[in-house]
Amino acid sequence: MKTIGYAVVGTGYFGAELGRIMKEQPNAKIVAVLDPENAEGIAEELGCDVETDLDTLYSREDVDAVIVASPNYLHKEPVIKAAEHGVQVFCEKPIALSYEDCDQMVSTCHEKGVTFMAGHVMNFFRSVRHAKQLINDGVIGEVLYCHSARNGWEEPQPSISWKKIREKSGGHLYHHIHELDCIQFIMGVPEEVTMVGGNVAHSGEEFGDEDDMLFITLQFPNNKYAVLEYGSAFHWPEHYVLIQGTKGAIKIDMKDVAMTVKTSEGEQQYLVHETKEEDDERTSIYHGTEMDGAIMYGKPGKLPPKWLHSIMKNEMKYFNDLLHGEEPDEEFKPLLTGEAARSAIATADALTISRFEDRKVKLSEIIG
Ligand SMILES: NC(=O)c1ccc[n+]([C@@H]2O[C@H](COP(=O)([O-])OP(=O)(O)OC[C@H]3O[C@@H](n4cnc5c(N)ncnc54)[C@H](O)[C@@H]3O)[C@@H](O)[C@H]2O)c1
Repeated sequence: MKTIGYAVVGTGYFGAELGRIMKEQPNAKIVAVLDPENAEGIAEELGCDVETDLDTLYSREDVDAVIVASPNYLHKEPVIKAAEHGVQVFCEKPIALSYEDCDQMVSTCHEKGVTFMAGHVMNFFRSVRHAKQLINDGVIGEVLYCHSARNGWEEPQPSISWKKIREKSGGHLYHHIHELDCIQFIMGVPEEVTMVGGNVAHSGEEFGDEDDMLFITLQFPNNKYAVLEYGSAFHWPEHYVLIQGTKGAIKIDMKDVAMTVKTSEGEQQYLVHETKEEDDERTSIYHGTEMDGAIMYGKPGKLPPKWLHSIMKNEMKYFNDLLHGEEPDEEFKPLLTGEAARSAIATADALTISRFEDRKVKLSEIIG
């Protein structure tokens, strides 16, 4: 079987670990990395080259695919150039900070006939896959409503990461697009949306400029709804996705980590991640002091916790298997066609208009 040669663009917290994980996959090799600040150390660790120019990188005979893990506002160029050179693409979330950019990235990959896989990693949680299976099997009936929260408290920062600057990260909604994507996988694309919020407790030089409280409503056809909360101005941390159906409900709790399924037969608990140890590790991180009240951001040189490493492994295995000719699962197809990327960013854009123009926004205004 052919060995796939991978390049990694952006080797900070996430890109470096994706590179380490991909290197361990069968018939996979990291051949080069590109990062203006953090390439040398990881290149030495992975035994690969450093490149400094995208065209040179993608022109290499041994580069078949790229893992793009640069900051959110810098995904577009490495994805479009990769497609133009016929290089297969895996791109970290959020794919882009506007629907227009996202659409251009996905369309170019399609036109050039290369794979485009969106790094919406929550789809690889054991619990998310399990919940989708239970829903498909009719265990909780028809889904009527979803509610997610990803709330914590942020202390003053010694230096401001790009992750806290709206123009670079998109703020909490785009940067943490996971819950929105997860709900859209379950409920489809909403018709109308609203978002209110603001920066209520974090202005000043020790903070970025993103909104620290966001309250979102999504309205789907046939009287179905979702409410999402995001932010860093909540001293009582919460992190969950709750799915309410006509016959039961499922809660995927990522703070007191467990998945609970409630039906007329009672409550059953299942794992959120791969093992009990990973679930317990995540619970203890949320209840410890290492995180700013449930807000944890990686930075170059830091290693992800075990639970996250495990799902990154599932994701990289999936991408590598796909490039080796494995048929995609029905469940994951929207991640590979650009459909999930486009619809998540379209909703985020509609929500942003709602927040700044103080009105309900139809998705058709974005998607046409
Ligand atoms: N799926 C997840 O759960 C998850 C978790 C963390 C990060 N991410 C995503 O991964 C991406 C990287 O985040 P991170 O946490 O590693 O950030 P980071 O700040 O740790 O690393 C970003 C790296 O990109 C490099 N960089 C800057 N400009 C670049 C350019 N023009 N080309 C190439 N590299 C450049 C920086 O030098 C840095 O090493 C982001 O899109 C982020 O949203 C996803």
